[in-house]
Amino acid sequence: MTLAQQFAAAFGAPPALTVRAPGRVNLIGEHTDYNDGFVLPCAIGVESRIAARPRSDGLIRVTACDFGGAMAEWQPDDAFAANAAEPWADYIRAMTTAMAQRGLALTGADIAVSGTVPKGAGLSSSASLMVGIGTALAALAGLTIAPAEMALMAQAGECDHVGVRCGIMDQLASASGLRGHALLIDCRSLAVQPVALPQGAQILIVHSGVARGLVEGAYNERRAQCEAAAAAMGVAALRDADLAMLERAPLDPLTLARARHVVTENARVLAAAEALAAGDLSAMGELMAASHASMRDDFQITVPKVDALVAELQALIGPEGGARMTGGGFGGAVVALCPAHRAEAVLDALTYRKPDGTPPLILRETACDGAGPAMTEDMT
Ligand code: GLA
Repeated sequence: MTLAQQFAAAFGAPPALTVRAPGRVNLIGEHTDYNDGFVLPCAIGVESRIAARPRSDGLIRVTACDFGGAMAEWQPDDAFAANAAEPWADYIRAMTTAMAQRGLALTGADIAVSGTVPKGAGLSSSASLMVGIGTALAALAGLTIAPAEMALMAQAGECDHVGVRCGIMDQLASASGLRGHALLIDCRSLAVQPVALPQGAQILIVHSGVARGLVEGAYNERRAQCEAAAAAMGVAALRDADLAMLERAPLDPLTLARARHVVTENARVLAAAEALAAGDLSAMGELMAASHASMRDDFQITVPKVDALVAELQALIGPEGGARMTGGGFGGAVVALCPAHRAEAVLDALTYRKPDGTPPLILRETACDGAGPAMTEDMT
């Protein structure tokens, strides 16, 4: 059944509109976004899909097609409360609450959601869901909302209500993706600069199969360590620090290592944008390797299975590209870049197995456009 058919089965009439909002893969720039730094993600083909129709009573009623048609309903100006009976609805509730708190005049809506972003992979299934819900509700209410504004609302929903003190990267990548391009995002100004991906480069994503469960505590702890380092140096954010400042600062070894990751990663992102723009996959591969080592040794957000997967991909790809863990860490997916003509040989040779001994999920991705209207027929 298409999403529109599932909507009609649940609500007795066809949807008024359908939208899609992509997941994202971050090519480089991890845990830099909440330090006012730089990131280089691209929106990808896996996506959240939303069908919607307005209601006149203000109620939000949602059916989750991927959860057996489970239903939940609430008023958007109700105080947010996580609902253990409907955990799938928490992110959607958080988004409608954030939109209501911005004072947006929303209409009520019947909504059906489904999605193809693998969960727990670090590919932004939650951010794409929230941006998709926001895009659908804005369209129903006849509101035009700029991508950065939409991203800020989704981020506020996740920080204030879900309780992860995330940065802006995932939401902004989903909202402002551009086909064929990575996005160099300045997370202080929210300026987005598209960087064309080299002709003939292939993005590969391999999910380690190590689930990213219950990592909010570790994520928030890393963020607090970064904020402590910035405060100790008297700067607004680690974006404003350099290695010389770090050496002089009165930081304990752990805080120093956390800050060193962010400072060096910001420099790598800017170099990576130049390498991509110049079509230099080999320089990009070196930067990806340095990024992974920094996440492993200084920021300590990788796990041994992910390190092993990255090492194998790096060895198979060789100097014409690279691989690194992508996303928040503690499991999830690895991103690789290589010449398209070598991609199948690399994947054929990959021996990595998930913790349960089965082959990993592999996505051959391209950079896609950001959230927007979708053709209903495409949404199965
Ligand atoms: C998660 C967060 C992002 C970002 C990454 C790490 O995806 O949602 O804001 O901090 O982790 O780069």
